Amino acid sequence: MDRRTFAQRVALAAGALGLAQPDQPAQAAEAPADKGAKPAARPAEIAPGGPREPVSVDDFQALSAAALPKATYEYITTGSCDEFTLRENIAAFRRIKILPPLLRGVSQVDTATTALGQPISLPIMLAPVACQSFYHPQGALASSRAAHAAGTIYGVSSSVGHSVEEIAAASQGPKWFQLYVPKDLAVARQLVQRVEKAGYQAIIVTVDLGEWKDADRRNNFALPKKMLVKHLRDTGFDQISDRMSEAEVRDFNINAWDISLSWKFFDWLRDQTKLPILMKGVLRKADAEQAMAIGLEGVIVSNHGGRRLDGMPATIDRLSEVAAAVGDRAEVYLDSGIRRGTDVLKALALGARAVLIGRPYVWALSAQGEAGVRKVIELLRAELHNAMIATGCAKLSDIDRSLLITSTTEGSPP
Ligand code: FNR
Repeated sequence: MDRRTFAQRVALAAGALGLAQPDQPAQAAEAPADKGAKPAARPAEIAPGGPREPVSVDDFQALSAAALPKATYEYITTGSCDEFTLRENIAAFRRIKILPPLLRGVSQVDTATTALGQPISLPIMLAPVACQSFYHPQGALASSRAAHAAGTIYGVSSSVGHSVEEIAAASQGPKWFQLYVPKDLAVARQLVQRVEKAGYQAIIVTVDLGEWKDADRRNNFALPKKMLVKHLRDTGFDQISDRMSEAEVRDFNINAWDISLSWKFFDWLRDQTKLPILMKGVLRKADAEQAMAIGLEGVIVSNHGGRRLDGMPATIDRLSEVAAAVGDRAEVYLDSGIRRGTDVLKALALGARAVLIGRPYVWALSAQGEAGVRKVIELLRAELHNAMIATGCAKLSDIDRSLLITSTTEGSPP
């Protein structure tokens, strides 16, 4: 594979949002309005006579499969290469069992906590997810409002389809901004300043760059030129205009992003902003220790939802080690594979302060817009609530490792 092909493919995950084979014109992925397209890999049957009211994340996935064109649904849903990591993210949660202690006299629970000092009503936040205006016309504006209504934090992708100001204006709710880094640091600096001015409360730097998904290459998935132009202009690339040809815009896009980040970038970022900084994509103890050595305020244990490098372990299997390395020096969050309230309970028991969900809310967004995102958060809240009552935990700080049978405790339940 030549360098340009590689760069094009990696660019998709580095904020570029454009994926096309170099020797073929980019196909605009079908518009969401094109309901005639056959959905891929429908996970469950939709009830005859119309979509039923969803009662689980899986139900939202089925609705999303029915609502979206195949290429768009697969862009959201699929994982890298053989999808080992995608499956493992789910399977690892299922391997951990809950052994509830009985008769603790709990009938009311409180799911409130804080994230970097911000009170949130439940330990579930929205992960940064790109291209949201491609899944629903309201896109990130709907996610922003739903997160606010649910009392939680919206992690805003820097490739989301609306500008940081538009999203800030959509709701007063707390937001963290996830930064993909323009090569031109003057553009990056301005973007960080705009994020601060718009009232975002933290910056997430995603360090596991480069999606590698067969489905997207097979489908020749790409954003329409109009969306790509808006994205680049929203980032601060003022030289981009509608008058440029599609090829020129895509070429610009490929070269615009820094995909060779190193630890030094954090020194630069620290000089630009007073906002707390989180690193997303941490799986190793040594990296967690280094993140603490440079004074980061938080780490997100993530494998990008199994979209990047296939073969990586499930995040829940890496959490304890990372949490131990961080200790009480910073906050630890986890994403990748959360589908049930019991998954949230397991993550908290193993050291996460809160979790982030990606696909679950994007499936809901594509199926039902803002109301869907709100509903999926409430579903997970209700499931967590139920799990806390069943395990006798009146508050989140009551959730601990002793509730679980993991591979290390198997055979000797507490
Ligand atoms: C993502 N993710 C992601 N992460 C990020 O830091 N910036 C981004 O722009 C995106 N874009 C993106 C698009 C889509 C369609 C998906 C599904 C995911 C990764 C995301 O933040 C998160 O790590 C995973 O989605 C978590 O896994 P689950 O919840 O989807 O299993």
